[in-house]
Amino acid sequence: MIKNVLECFYEKFGSEGDIRTYFAPGRVNLIGEHTDYNGGHVFPCALTIGTYMAARKREDNRLRFYSMNFERTGVVESSLDQFLMGKENNWTQYPKGVMWAFHQKGFTFDKGFDIVLYGNIPNGSGLSSSASLEVVTGVMLRDMFGFDSISMIDLALYGQFSENRYNGVNCGIMDQFSIAMGKKDHAIFLDTADLSYTYAPLKLEGAKIVIACSNKKRGLGDSKYNERRSECETALAELQKVKDIRSLGELSSVEFEEIKDAIKDPVRQKRAKHAVYENERTIKAVEALQAGNVAEFGLLMNASHVSLRDDYEVTGKELDALVDAAWKCDGVIGSRMTGAGFGGCTVSIVKTEAVDAFIEKVGAEYEAAIGYAATFYVVDIGDGAGVLK
Ligand code: GLA
Repeated sequence: MIKNVLECFYEKFGSEGDIRTYFAPGRVNLIGEHTDYNGGHVFPCALTIGTYMAARKREDNRLRFYSMNFERTGVVESSLDQFLMGKENNWTQYPKGVMWAFHQKGFTFDKGFDIVLYGNIPNGSGLSSSASLEVVTGVMLRDMFGFDSISMIDLALYGQFSENRYNGVNCGIMDQFSIAMGKKDHAIFLDTADLSYTYAPLKLEGAKIVIACSNKKRGLGDSKYNERRSECETALAELQKVKDIRSLGELSSVEFEEIKDAIKDPVRQKRAKHAVYENERTIKAVEALQAGNVAEFGLLMNASHVSLRDDYEVTGKELDALVDAAWKCDGVIGSRMTGAGFGGCTVSIVKTEAVDAFIEKVGAEYEAAIGYAATFYVVDIGDGAGVLK
């Protein structure tokens, strides 16, 4: 893959000088959805698909970007003194946002770059192509300028900072964290309240992770994502009047039931309920997996989808159609939407011998219900972002 990116780089920008290469994966979240900005737990893993970058430092402060995914856009040129926060409407807003974030964090530089990118994460699929682009940019900047005091977790935080402040999406830390910190064949059990984490081996006992992309595009910015986040913040403020808590993630479901009437609006109460119960489900799911109980893990995935559908209301007919069809298939251990929702993907755990039939059946049922096809990926779990040799 990276060979093609390098060849493209030579063609666009020449082959001389110190050209370096980098990779950042996409991610899939197994359980713990819309908990990361509520101080709860998440359980994502890095994929082996992701974003490849070839870059060379320039002598001046110009920036030249080319994406092999957006050939028609061609080379996009700007410079380090042209950061237009929230105003750009092409993909270069993500790498530029991270360059801006580095400056904000005190890691300043005055040399620009020539950059070629190629990503094999479907865009807008909910597998974090934008966070992948952010983290690969951070890895590149750290390497090019020798900012060795920046840790991988810092890179994740700078990516999130750029997404929040430069691109105007109030996302949590899950995507950038899992992309920066992923580990082959492991999922990350992350407590977003304090960023403590452990790696859990993904022993799926003869089953595979299958991602189904609804092919309904979503962009976080124009989705209801920010609205959900502020509903949770309002609910938290109401609960804080009756209990001393810092986040919804601190509450057990029992505690929540005792004080939930402090939340005045029934819709907001449902949103907070999801955040609390989903956090509890995530903790239980990881325990089940560690005890070798994949069946229980699957049931908790299913319950997660129901809660995201009925209480959080972020699924939509496409994701519901995929999950409904999956639940009816033989060999399906669990199935749910993954990521922000409102389109994007589902994640299912499917017995290896049932995968082909699953893809055929769910694919046919989805197309009949929605009118266009879904795309399926049987995925492997890979390492986090880094420099390519
Ligand atoms: C998006 C955000 C994450 C997280 C998920 C929902 O992927 O970027 O921070 O909130 O949605 O779990």
